[in-house]
Amino acid sequence: MAVEEGQWVLMATGRSPTNIAVIKYWGKRDEALILPVNDSISVTLDPGHLSATTSVAVSPSFPSDRMWLNGKEISLSGGRFQNCLREIRKRARDVEDEKKGIRINKEDWEKLHVHIASYNNFPTAAGLASSAAGFACLVFTLGKVMNVMEDYGELSSIARQGSGSACRSIYGGFVKWCMGKNNDGSDSIAVQLADEAHWNDLVIIIAVVSSKQKETSSTSGMRDSVETSPLLQYRAQTIVPNRVLKMEEAIKSRNFESFARLTCADSNQFHAVCMDTSSPIFYMNDTSHRIINLVEKWNQSEGTPQVAYTFDAGPNAVLIAPNRKNAALLLQKLLYCFPPQDHDLSSYMVGDKSILSDAGLNSMEDVEALPAPAEMKTPNQKFKGDVSYFICSRLGAGPKVVTEETQALIDSVTGLPK
Ligand code: DP6
Repeated sequence: MAVEEGQWVLMATGRSPTNIAVIKYWGKRDEALILPVNDSISVTLDPGHLSATTSVAVSPSFPSDRMWLNGKEISLSGGRFQNCLREIRKRARDVEDEKKGIRINKEDWEKLHVHIASYNNFPTAAGLASSAAGFACLVFTLGKVMNVMEDYGELSSIARQGSGSACRSIYGGFVKWCMGKNNDGSDSIAVQLADEAHWNDLVIIIAVVSSKQKETSSTSGMRDSVETSPLLQYRAQTIVPNRVLKMEEAIKSRNFESFARLTCADSNQFHAVCMDTSSPIFYMNDTSHRIINLVEKWNQSEGTPQVAYTFDAGPNAVLIAPNRKNAALLLQKLLYCFPPQDHDLSSYMVGDKSILSDAGLNSMEDVEALPAPAEMKTPNQKFKGDVSYFICSRLGAGPKVVTEETQALIDSVTGLPK
């Protein structure tokens, strides 16, 4: 139903980044509140390349809460959406928009309904953590519309109830999710360790790996791991606490060697926990393993890490280089092994495409002329089509309000998605 004549629509739009964990969250001690079994640490990615944009509109003429994701209406009846909506509504305050002649009292929010439209600037099907950006953005933007004044720690604990990893998308740069001790989850919040400017040489290259397999969701995968993997308990209690301290130190001192060793070891241990689960969960595939081999051989031959790799609940590789020079060298090796299937170089690299010219790759001829990486076992083996495309990105900032009316996803007259 569209807006009735004489009724107003109030709206806010926000944009939130996605994040990638370098010390992984895997396992809950409380499923309903989403409380983890260990701390985790992540880097926030540039929202220009990977983010969710969400508009939230409110009007007295909306009969119910509704949501559209990437243009399609989705149900809001799930517990995770309801928890986020309830927690933000509880903290809603008076709102006054003099220009529009709107006045909403704190108590009115219980009766008012919202329309939410959200959009990811990267394909959801690519298996990149879209729930982290999505729930962080939902909570941030609802908070803006409802004039919620809570600090970011509190917002992170609400976003956590949408999806655990979403609490880390409330900040830019380097972020730690402290598991907390309280049963009510009040101290399970994210904190910023350093902003994105602290270590801005880092370059992130994501290989979006082709996969036809339907993956086990993080939620059900980690539930199975908690119930069946003895390694998960050992990891959470003995390994992670120490690793988190070392990772904080590596970030603080911009020690790439330590950062890279910890990142790779933690990704591998997370996937070992998946293997230790009954039934075992395989998130990585042959392409993922080939990328690990390539990086490990390169790192070993140089005697010190040149790039770090990390993999989430899917086959995509997230590669972190200390600078553009190493990112360009990495790209040469990757493009030798995984040349584009359709001969179109420019659509094979999204995000910061300029890394291609840093690597001297301005045309397909340049790609074809690449020498085989010294680290390859069988130097002439190529795996065309095994990587769908690459994304080149960097660290980025936390959620922001989007003020340009043209970027809003809801029509301010009809109250429906544009
Ligand atoms: C492998 O946050 O997606 O990406 O809390 O059940 O929504 P839920 O799970 P989710 O799990 C993310 C797991 C991970 C590691 C990480 O991001 O720390």
